[in-house]
Amino acid sequence: MKKTHVGFLGLGAGLPPKVLTNFDLEKIVDTSDEWIRTRTGIRERRIAEPGVAASDLGVEAAREALQKSGLKPTELDLIIVATVTPDMSFPSTGCMVQKKIGATCPAFDLSAACSGFVFALSVAEAYIQSGFYKYILVVGSEITSSFVNWKDRSTCVLFGDGAGAAIVGPTLEGHQILATHIGSDGNYSDILKVPAGGSALPVNEKNIAEGLQFLKMEGAEVFKLAVRTMEEAIHRVCELAHIRTEQIDCLIPHQANLRILNAVAERVKIPNEKVFVNVDRYGNMSAASTVVALYEADKFRMIKKGQNVILVAFGGGLTWGSCAIRW
Ligand code: COA
Repeated sequence: MKKTHVGFLGLGAGLPPKVLTNFDLEKIVDTSDEWIRTRTGIRERRIAEPGVAASDLGVEAAREALQKSGLKPTELDLIIVATVTPDMSFPSTGCMVQKKIGATCPAFDLSAACSGFVFALSVAEAYIQSGFYKYILVVGSEITSSFVNWKDRSTCVLFGDGAGAAIVGPTLEGHQILATHIGSDGNYSDILKVPAGGSALPVNEKNIAEGLQFLKMEGAEVFKLAVRTMEEAIHRVCELAHIRTEQIDCLIPHQANLRILNAVAERVKIPNEKVFVNVDRYGNMSAASTVVALYEADKFRMIKKGQNVILVAFGGGLTWGSCAIRW
């Protein structure tokens, strides 16, 4: 049986207009623009206004992606929203997006932290490949400012809010997803997490008093594992796609820290010019990072038809994932 080609029919982004610079952060916590820039590469990030939920940014991104694809919301077969900052525990943010854009298809959320978009993409690709669904809206949307402790300088400077969306569907030969790869290791679940707010530690006065509703991170450990797992994920997806790392035209990594991106590029021997970077403007937007980076790489013409593009992500869980695309 001939394999269906699956690719991107439209991309969109939803970025809050409010910019929080490193200089703004200097007024909130004991930090400096110099420290943040040299340790992370981040200069500024976007922050959603109170009352703006993950579904709102996701809807903005979804509308742009739909418009670019030429599809109507009612033509969608499935909506997957990758997020760890859902509007609420349930109903899913997927259902909120479905309602707000006027779609009628099934919708669900997927939780894989910063690797969420790549995980959701692999699910979408499999559904389309199998012939079960044709057009799938994949959204990565996060209001990370909702779990950031603005008194903790070691984490609050790293994150930002945003959303990206992709319409994934059958494509003609030429542009297609060549391979996807995902992985998890729950043994490292403690190094990056939001402890309270789920069934293990419900939100109550005691847990709030201990600040357990905020993100906790062992930064140095996360850094090392991010570099190692992203390197491995790039090699694995290249193997699956039958391309050599020298044939990568553009590497689009999860945007957590410029030093992580540089270290990965060095290990895989990809020149920095081939690595897409926007962490300087948005910080780490968790599940939205890779899709917004893909959106901008396309918009700024950094990726061209026929090129080999690799998406690679890493996040809490641990989770990691990669996707090889012939653009
Ligand atoms: N401003 C100023 N100083 C800060 C600071 C800030 N915003 N945040 C931490 N520091 C201080 C610490 O208190 C510590 O001080 P001490 O040495 O006196 O105890 C020192 O800086 C730590 O410095 P260093 O060890 O050099 O930090 P680092 O180079 O490891 O960078 C991170 C810290 C968090 C930027 C880095 O570990 C990192 O990016 N980790 C990965 C995070 C990540 O990607 N998470 C998401 C994955 S999806």
